[in-house]
Amino acid sequence: MTQLQALYADMQKFFHPLWPGEDKPLVLGEGNAFNPPLMLIGEAPGETEVIKRRPFVGKAGKNLDEFLSMMEMKREDIFISNVVKIRPTDIGPTGRTRNRAPNKEELALFIPWLMKEIAIVQPKALVTLGNVPLKALTDPKITIGDCHGTFMDCQAGVPLFALYHPASIIYRRALMPVYQADVLTLKEALQNTK
Ligand code: URA
Repeated sequence: MTQLQALYADMQKFFHPLWPGEDKPLVLGEGNAFNPPLMLIGEAPGETEVIKRRPFVGKAGKNLDEFLSMMEMKREDIFISNVVKIRPTDIGPTGRTRNRAPNKEELALFIPWLMKEIAIVQPKALVTLGNVPLKALTDPKITIGDCHGTFMDCQAGVPLFALYHPASIIYRRALMPVYQADVLTLKEALQNTK
C-alpha cells in the first residue's frame, strides 16, 4: 500500500461514521501522485464527481480539459484533488438537491487531511481554483481578486499559484481573458523552472 492509499484508507475510517445514514461518499484525489509538476486543488466534488467517484469529471472536467490544453499537459501528468471531499448540498426552492459552498465545519474537518495529502504527493507547485482552496491554504482574509495569477507562499510549504475557479467564468465572462492570461503566466513560470 502506498502512503497515499494508507492516507485515503484512514480518511474512509474517519469520515464514514461522521454522517450515519447519509450517503456522503468521499471523492479522493487522482493522477500523478509522485512529485508532479502541479497539484490542482478545487473546492469540492459535484454530482457527477460523486457518481463517478472521481474529481473534475463533470462540467468542471470540461474546464479542466481546457486548462490542460492551454498548459500542454495531460490529466495524468498532474495530481487533481479537492479541499472538501464530499459533495456539500442543500435543497433548492424547487425541491431539488443542489451544490452549495462548503461550510466552516466541513472545511475544518477536511483541511488537515488536505495538508497530509500535499505532504505525501509533494507537488512542485499547487494551483488553487477559486477562493475556497486559496483561503484554506493561505489566509481567510485573502481573496482571489487580489492575488490571482501570482505565486504565493502557503502553509503547505509549496509555492501556490491562484487561479479563478473556471466555473466563475461562466457567470462572469469578463474574467475569461484574465483567466487565460493567468494560465499563460503559470505555463511560462513552469517552463522557466525546467
Ligand atoms: N468538481 C470538482 O471536483 N471540484 C470543483 O471544485 C468543482 C467541480
